[in-house]
Amino acid sequence: MKKKFITIEPKELKIPDLHQTLLGLVSPRPIAFASTIDKEGNPNLAPFSFFNVFSSNPPTVIFSPNRSGKTGKNKDTIHNLMDTMEVVINMVNFDIVQQMNVAACEYPADINEFIKSGLTPIESDLVKPFRVKETPAQLECKVEQIITLGSQGGAGNLVVCRVLKIHIDENIIHEKYKIDPHKIDLVARMGADFYCRASGNAVFEVPKPNQKMGIGFDNLPDFIKLHKDLTGNELGQLANLENLPSSEEIQNFIQENQDFLNQFHNEHDKILWAKKELSVYPNDTIKVLKLLMTLK
Ligand SMILES: Cc1cc2nc3c(=O)[nH]c(=O)nc-3n(C[C@H](O)[C@H](O)[C@H](O)COP(=O)(O)O)c2cc1C
Repeated sequence: MKKKFITIEPKELKIPDLHQTLLGLVSPRPIAFASTIDKEGNPNLAPFSFFNVFSSNPPTVIFSPNRSGKTGKNKDTIHNLMDTMEVVINMVNFDIVQQMNVAACEYPADINEFIKSGLTPIESDLVKPFRVKETPAQLECKVEQIITLGSQGGAGNLVVCRVLKIHIDENIIHEKYKIDPHKIDLVARMGADFYCRASGNAVFEVPKPNQKMGIGFDNLPDFIKLHKDLTGNELGQLANLENLPSSEEIQNFIQENQDFLNQFHNEHDKILWAKKELSVYPNDTIKVLKLLMTLK
């Protein structure tokens, strides 16, 4: 299919349209369900999907309560943070997504979103803001810095948070310090009103290449690289192998795998097998490459 790009310069768009375009593209985004308190100790709870982790040493997350696109004013969360410099970031899973959405209503500052959303405040160990009991994990943080990106509606305020303490529901851990994505069942925000759920079939594994050096597309033989039935993802797995098998290794492969090779009647059969094998993880990628090398 012929691809045609639409080109946009940010200043050509109205802010709400630019906002939606950026949010649809930089997506899905994790959600920081931020619990803060004001100077008098009144709790506030609100979700922010301009959020991520940026450092583990020191442990640092950043989220951004932006100035309202409608009023240009800063949100309650940012006022509280400027006053107290403490926040608990609660992770949002599928079970609480609708209650989180209630807490996203722009209630007046004196309204407690814990009460509105029906979620339960529990005490933190090191900071004053409450944790949300129903969430699968919470990060107690002190705010290191607030970086203001502008003074107009839509401007971000990057809240740089140092993580002081982490609480994790033990049921979502599958081995030491490793979180099971299906059990934590996180949700993420996309453009418009779309969300996605990061569990079940939506989750897949891609082995990390950083322990080894892949041969790269440039080292794949043309009869494989240019094969009309192999996709970029399939070739990408082959390009991540560390060595291209030598002719001697291919000869040995043929001799040692006669029964395996006899099942294929033609090139098409071999390609189908290769595609099927590459569609699962973990797979025997070296065997696939050796089989494809016999196509020459
Ligand atoms: C899933 C979700 C993600 C959101 N992400 C952001 C965000 O990153 N930045 C922002 O300014 N508002 C975001 N909002 C809107 C705020 O949650 C909303 O304005 C809220 O009322 C702010 O509360 P506060 O005034 O108590 O701080 C988001 C809303 C939802 C439902």
